[in-house]
Amino acid sequence: MEVRAQVKEWRKQGLSVGLVPTMGYLHEGHKSLIDRAVKENDRVVVSDFVNPIQFGVNEDLSTYPRDIEADKKLCEAAGADLIFHPTPEEMYAPDFSTYVEMQKVSEGLCGKSRPTHFRGVCTVVNKLFHIVSPDRAYFGEKDAQQLAVVRRMVRDLNMDIEIVGCPIIREADGLAKSSRNTYLNEAEREAALVLSKAVFCGKEMMEKGERDAETILSAMRKIIEAEPLARIDYVEMVDADSITPVTKAEGRVLTAMAVYIGKTRLIDNFIMEV
Ligand code: PAF
Repeated sequence: MEVRAQVKEWRKQGLSVGLVPTMGYLHEGHKSLIDRAVKENDRVVVSDFVNPIQFGVNEDLSTYPRDIEADKKLCEAAGADLIFHPTPEEMYAPDFSTYVEMQKVSEGLCGKSRPTHFRGVCTVVNKLFHIVSPDRAYFGEKDAQQLAVVRRMVRDLNMDIEIVGCPIIREADGLAKSSRNTYLNEAEREAALVLSKAVFCGKEMMEKGERDAETILSAMRKIIEAEPLARIDYVEMVDADSITPVTKAEGRVLTAMAVYIGKTRLIDNFIMEV
């Protein structure tokens, strides 16, 4: 109610509103989304909510890192106007029973090993869109399938919201920024570099003209398989919008991977238009 009242007030003043949905423990990747939202909107809302329904039963809901005080500081410094930090009880009534379910786009890649994940994402993003009613919402390209899923949901359900995708932010050594990187010990942090190494290798092959998906994917898998601490969940090439597998790189293609480093599941990808 409070968030709605504030947004209503801004609307009365003719101000535009951007939303950056996050699960908190904000890092440079989130900051880049907030920076872009601040540039493109009069007011910016950051939602900071670890959404329980997008975690599977054996996943890391209870250990997912949280630090609302640090998040507040980052948001303030970046120029966000409001942080929406609801409790799970505020978001989900005990008899909550309505979900947004998507077919196809949510079924491949991460959807295979996390079968209820995108139902949870679509449902919470829908709720956030209804609560904040933003003009624009900002999502990272690191979660490329999530971005494709959200775009599809907005199209299919006729939502009047512009979805803005923002580039992956990497550490100096290449590792894509992620709140889950904090789970890695020193040896795992080093081992995790195989993800970005594989991404850079695949990208270079495509830039040099290689178009055969299997040739590119095998070279990428080889890099990951050489690391004893790494275990591949998937390394695949798909159409970037429909998330259906391709055998040849043609049009806008997403080459994506999920890899376990020890117990931590990390994702990375690159998108190329060829
Ligand atoms: O990308 C995330 O952090 C989450 O999946 C999102 C979009 C905030 C929904 O909980």
